[in-house]
Amino acid sequence: MSQYNFTFSEVMTKKPKPLGKQLQFGKYFTDHMFVMEYHHQKGWYDGKIIPYQPLTLDPASMIFHYGQTVFEGLKAYKSKDGETRLFRPKENINRLNRSNARMCIPEIDPDLALAAIKELVRIENDWIPKQEGTSLYIRPFIIATEPYLGVSASKQYKFIIILSPVGAYYKEGINPVRIAVETEYIRAVKGGTGEVKTAGNYASSLIAQEKAEASGFAQVLWLDGHDKKYIEEVGSMNVFFKIDGEVITPELNGSILPGVTRNSVIEVLRDWGVPVVERKILLEELITAHKEGRLEEAFGSGTAAVISPIGELNCNGEALIINNQETGEIAKKLYETITGIQYGHLEDKFNWID
Ligand code: COI
Repeated sequence: MSQYNFTFSEVMTKKPKPLGKQLQFGKYFTDHMFVMEYHHQKGWYDGKIIPYQPLTLDPASMIFHYGQTVFEGLKAYKSKDGETRLFRPKENINRLNRSNARMCIPEIDPDLALAAIKELVRIENDWIPKQEGTSLYIRPFIIATEPYLGVSASKQYKFIIILSPVGAYYKEGINPVRIAVETEYIRAVKGGTGEVKTAGNYASSLIAQEKAEASGFAQVLWLDGHDKKYIEEVGSMNVFFKIDGEVITPELNGSILPGVTRNSVIEVLRDWGVPVVERKILLEELITAHKEGRLEEAFGSGTAAVISPIGELNCNGEALIINNQETGEIAKKLYETITGIQYGHLEDKFNWID
């Protein structure tokens, strides 16, 4: 029990748990959820763990009209000897509060948020799948609940945490995916909301994803919102390229999400002594490097997939085939190292496990 004493009402009938091999991403939900309320005169109050259930909300709730909401995604892993391992939860909670600040949502005490995550995961411990490649995805989110149609920051919110046992995010798993370079739509601009985790970023990305999927691609490569020359992200992930032995990722410029996995990749590469830089990357530079045989690897990084190699970048019909459409050495080693730490096969030398 934490010092916060969240009230707990236990579900009457527990749901059957899906088998590890049935797990996809985000399809099943556990028996309980955490809910806490905010009122501008009271602050955050009444944190409780209750049976997983639908919400009852006033149709005028501001979330439905103006999209004032933030979310996070992190994972709990089960080690071979039964230990529960949360991967860098404080990083996600800090980012949740940065997203809150951008979206005019009141800050949450980080210790309280961590205690809520840990208590819910403790109660749902049996839901953490054990099979390699599976984990318990933790989805904290906040919605604006004040019933009011004026455009302003809501005076009431709900902070909710739900849990979902998950398998691979992409059906390809760690196998390379085909990506279309998106030259029409953009994901975000500096000064907008691209560097925080709010629903609108994802809603506005769907049209490009659908367009890409209709042409047989898994996702899109996003370019910058000013002149569509620079690389930003891939799908809902950060992106890395290996050119001439150096690993490059777009610098955090105000429109790119500061991914926890992105940061972990950079730290691991530095630890290995592999040169890694955060800087602007021109699409043109990638095309030239590919032509000259210097584009060695490309991969996305994110909590959901961890590492997702890119086997093809398709730029208006011109296919850049990367590493023979095979999983690159660095991508594979990063995946093994990061998941090795997550599952506890490897020593937690960076102090990432909570
Ligand atoms: C990630 O974890 O890579 C994501 O951002 C995807 C998530 C929104 C499902």
